[in-house]
Amino acid sequence: MNKKFVIAIDGPAASGKSTTAKQLAIKLKYIYIDTGAMYRACGLCTLLQNISLDDEVALKKMLDKISIKIEYAEKGNRIFLNGENVSERIREADITKLSSQIAVIGMVRRKMVELQRKMGEDGGVIMDGRDIGTIVFPNADFKFFMLADVETRALRRWEEMKNNRKNITLEEIKEELIWRDRNDTTRKISPLLQAEDAIPINNSEMTIKEQVEMIYSVIERG
Ligand code: CDP
Ligand code: CDP
Repeated sequence: MNKKFVIAIDGPAASGKSTTAKQLAIKLKYIYIDTGAMYRACGLCTLLQNISLDDEVALKKMLDKISIKIEYAEKGNRIFLNGENVSERIREADITKLSSQIAVIGMVRRKMVELQRKMGEDGGVIMDGRDIGTIVFPNADFKFFMLADVETRALRRWEEMKNNRKNITLEEIKEELIWRDRNDTTRKISPLLQAEDAIPINNSEMTIKEQVEMIYSVIERG
């Protein structure tokens, strides 16, 4: 496997995209690019600069100056917004919601797609998100679409948050996932959609190891 592929992994919230992408990146010695973190950083930026999402002029100014950098590391990437490490802050619930709200705005998406294409232009990347196989890299070498039923996804997120001692109920997590999936699939620009040539991976009944192996074997076959 000498060629440096572009691998796109899309799917709804908590469907296992980042877990899979991180492990594949280590196996393949590729760079993992979490595009959701970029929309999260954008959302946080509006909050820090007190910008309303319908203020087009202020948003444009913000986007013209924004710096979003990913520092790649095997034990977990770190994300910097305008020079500040925001890796933990962007995972908070208020930013999760804001990221989906800001992701419907055309100029935001255009800017993020431009940055993502630059990050992936030399190949050797695994990029996860919602529109990677459809819009960002429609010619990606491999496209996967992760799926799991909402009960399973909510339970997995809840387990994850329980370990982080976050005070949130399973029902609240499920509602948040349903709200976000609806917002992401129904927006006019680049909605969450399975690319026609993407391979669906329904992992409701799979272990993490199985889902990673399944994708790895497809890539290995070339
Ligand atoms: O990146 P995305 O939001 O799509 O999901 P994730 O954060 O990778 O995965 C959500 C949770 O599901 C994580 O805690 C994973 O460890 C867990 N999980 C999984 O991804 N796949 C399985 N087969 C089982 C659990
Ligand atoms: O990890 P999780 O699946 O919960 O979300 P995420 O991947 O961090 O993405 C946060 C939000 O950013 C999503 O709900 C989408 O609204 C938006 N997003 C997007 O519109 N396009 C992408 N390529 C990635 C994320």
